[in-house]
Amino acid sequence: MAAIEKDFHGSVVYQVYIKSFCDSDGDGVGDLPGVTSKLDYLAELGVDYLWLTPFYPSPQRDGGYDVSDYRAVDPAYGTMADFDELVARAHERGIGVMLDMVLCHTSVEHEWFRRALAGEERYRAYYILRDGRGSSGPGDPGQPPTNWDCAFGGSAWKWEPRLGKWYLHLHDVSQPDLDWTNPEVRAECAEVVRFWKDHGVDGFRFDVVNLISKPEVFEDDLCGAGRRLFADGPHIHEYLRELVARAGIGDMLTVGEMASTDLANCVRYTRPEDRELSMSFSFHHLKVDYAGGSKWELMEPDIARLREIFLEWQEGMQAGGGWNALFWDNHDQPRAVTRFGGREGVGLRGSRWDHVGKMLAICVHLMKGTPYVYQGDELGMVNPGYDSIERFRDVETTNYYQIMLEMGKGPEEALRVVNERSRDNGRTPMQWSARPGAGFTEGSPWLEIPASHKLVNAEAEVGVVGSMFEHYRALIRLRHELDVIARGSVRFLDAGPAAPKVIAYERTLGEKRVVVACSFDAEPCSIADLGVSGAEVLIGSYDDEPPAGALRPFEGVAWIM
Ligand code: GLC
Repeated sequence: MAAIEKDFHGSVVYQVYIKSFCDSDGDGVGDLPGVTSKLDYLAELGVDYLWLTPFYPSPQRDGGYDVSDYRAVDPAYGTMADFDELVARAHERGIGVMLDMVLCHTSVEHEWFRRALAGEERYRAYYILRDGRGSSGPGDPGQPPTNWDCAFGGSAWKWEPRLGKWYLHLHDVSQPDLDWTNPEVRAECAEVVRFWKDHGVDGFRFDVVNLISKPEVFEDDLCGAGRRLFADGPHIHEYLRELVARAGIGDMLTVGEMASTDLANCVRYTRPEDRELSMSFSFHHLKVDYAGGSKWELMEPDIARLREIFLEWQEGMQAGGGWNALFWDNHDQPRAVTRFGGREGVGLRGSRWDHVGKMLAICVHLMKGTPYVYQGDELGMVNPGYDSIERFRDVETTNYYQIMLEMGKGPEEALRVVNERSRDNGRTPMQWSARPGAGFTEGSPWLEIPASHKLVNAEAEVGVVGSMFEHYRALIRLRHELDVIARGSVRFLDAGPAAPKVIAYERTLGEKRVVVACSFDAEPCSIADLGVSGAEVLIGSYDDEPPAGALRPFEGVAWIM
């Protein structure tokens, strides 16, 4: 199977959260044949690559990011033959396939961890094991070695009597971190990547990969819960270069998920001369509505801050020669349409929902970088607004719901928070039709289908002039057709004092100039002269042209000259 060769600057990636994409056998869980059956839909949308979230055997404590075998397909998702078929059929349509590599940790059910538990020295050395603080000797756990918290609430350390040590888990307790200082671990991980490369895939997304290099000294974090100590660690660049070289993937599309990272490191991760990755995901722009920096405290998005962050990362990555992955949504994020626009008008043309969804798409698709469409973005899918905590499945959500109750929030308030912030908001089944099961499943879905599927679904949108789907399709086509969008330089513009919630930038290449202005304001506003008078409107979030010198609520416009 020949790999697809594309220039990623002009490409758009589509993320499939396989569990929720399309269920071909009625068990309520999406699967590989389900993805294959929707390739024509993806080809019609026009995407270049498909990123498949993990489908490897897994106890599913963390939605498949707890891998128990890196080289196989979980029977719930199909067989290796189904996988090969998916790759072949995608290639026929010119679509590349990217896989998710979860190499920071394994599941506790992975053979390596099981052999460590059984006492094999070789495998004990694959994990990060430490004695407790204040332990009186073997068998006495003492206290956790450091005060670090894991991402899903509680200590990042677990005492394991069979190991006689505490093991480090930066995520769920069932996800022990691998020790990348061990050369055997690094060699094993490179072999895993090579295994899938040999299966004909075209690229890779590396899960929380900037957390693989831990600090030299393990000590308490005196002003936090540890994350700033273990992000972008001391050997990270060396490990990435080695992994890419050993696995032989230097010419493929590679993207790293970079937790709590910074610009200087992301420049190094992605500038071509360093031979690390093609591009990186950073998340600062998705924290502008975290009150006091906490995901579990609500506030209105701070658009001035959002603008600053985009400016810093767009112009900064450009100056350093790096490359951004552009996105609002993924399987860990609530839906941006709800986040920035609320729930008004869901599914209705010309409503706030319609304008917000289209404006958000314009905002990131015309930036410099490679846009990622997360399944359902192109339909305008929204947070489900579940009526009970019982509906939620995600381990982070259920943990933090309890933590919020313990910290004194009432059940109603805690439910309101998870309805805004839970990762399940982005994991609801794909809405293919208005039928029961939303065309996702004939069975009972693993996560409840949102009521919005009756209005927001592919059947109602594909081929319908002015729909969200056709808007995404048009944006993808613009990137393919216009070099100024794929490759032009970027510069942020000041929309003026009367437009504090407007994000504006220009892209230029030779004589060509594209100006983009996106209003995150629920009220109309006047904007400064962006030098666009008389210019042709390339695309907008309203059906008609914007009034001169102003933007309507949640209006996004791009002009070309
Ligand atoms: C990444 C994944 C997320 C997972 C975590 C641990 O952030 O996107 O879903 O829980 O890594 O693997």
